[in-house]
Amino acid sequence: MLVLGIESSCDETAASIVRDGHEVLSSVISSQIKLHAGYGGVIPELAAREHLKNILTVVRTSLTEADISLDDIGGMAVTSYPGLIPALLVGNTFSKGLAASRHYPLIGINHFEAHMYGAFIDHPELLTPEHFPIIALVVSGGHTAIVCLEANGQARILGRTLDDAAGEALDKAAKILGLEYPGGPIIDRLAKNGNTKAYHFPRGLMGGSGRPIAPEHRFDFSFSGVKTAMLYAVKNRELTDSELSDVVASYQAAIMQVLVKKTIRAAREVHAKLICLSGGVACNSYLRHIMAEAAEKIHCDFVLTPPKYCTDNAAMVSGLGWHFLRRGMDGGLTQPVSARLPADLGIFPFAPFAPEDF
Ligand code: KG4
Ligand code: ZN
Repeated sequence: MLVLGIESSCDETAASIVRDGHEVLSSVISSQIKLHAGYGGVIPELAAREHLKNILTVVRTSLTEADISLDDIGGMAVTSYPGLIPALLVGNTFSKGLAASRHYPLIGINHFEAHMYGAFIDHPELLTPEHFPIIALVVSGGHTAIVCLEANGQARILGRTLDDAAGEALDKAAKILGLEYPGGPIIDRLAKNGNTKAYHFPRGLMGGSGRPIAPEHRFDFSFSGVKTAMLYAVKNRELTDSELSDVVASYQAAIMQVLVKKTIRAAREVHAKLICLSGGVACNSYLRHIMAEAAEKIHCDFVLTPPKYCTDNAAMVSGLGWHFLRRGMDGGLTQPVSARLPADLGIFPFAPFAPEDF
């Protein structure tokens, strides 16, 4: 079945055609980064207006690149939560109009779950029982969480950030340092020339300095301390290029090392067979390197989502959508949008023993 997926939860308008959950025929992304860069963050109403301007072209291009027509499509999937409400409304209203006129089934997709699915688009062979339980680290501009995924499709959030998401912590640091938005890719690049040990930034919720962490927070994250420490380290200083590289390298290391340590700790605790890394921050070259090294050390298989499926895209939406649609599910035309990620993630349909009729 060919699924048309649409993504408009933040600042990317995206459409993609994917066959049977894994064969990507097209993945078109129109990024608004330049529009929001001057504000240092995404302005929801501006994002919505831009989605409205671009969505038809993006969808048409996805059909052309896949070399198919609307008659070939078997169903649609659209990101419906969590995200910026004005932005989500554009993608969802467009999708409902198209689904109604063409009589397509339509599934509303959890963006967080779609990021996790990004790791498996090119790897259907990993969705077999011997690779479960899976520990997934999802790190983006809006989310930072460790999820345990069981072969029966049940997913539990073991830990999440108590304040900023990892991407947010990078973007805010970049703003403090006078760098452009989004800061993550710039910090990634500059840190390559820096010394990760030049500055001693605190590792949040790691139980250092003789203060043990409460057991219920052992998989949680906090990045506000490291951000404040960085702010004080650079306050009233004119940094040379090499000092700037050292600051960002040390800052990036403080964040990424905690992400990896806690992911590995979770993988050991649940006896994970596979670790996966997804979300925009999963593009980070330092994080990819130290995660791969750490997973190898504990002899756990790992999958690093390809960068094109880490940042927001619609292939992860179409791909995940297929797993619902193939079961005959149809969310219909009254599905709501929501800003929030629910505490209960529900059943993940791509797990090998997920019930057919959940
Ligand atoms: O997944 P995404 O595109 O959007 C959300 O759902 O949030 O993630 C965007 C985030 C931004 O914070 C951006 O700075 C970060 O991903 N990011 C990176 C890199 N590329 C994107 N962070 C670190 N290193 C990168 N190479
Ligand atoms: Zn995202």
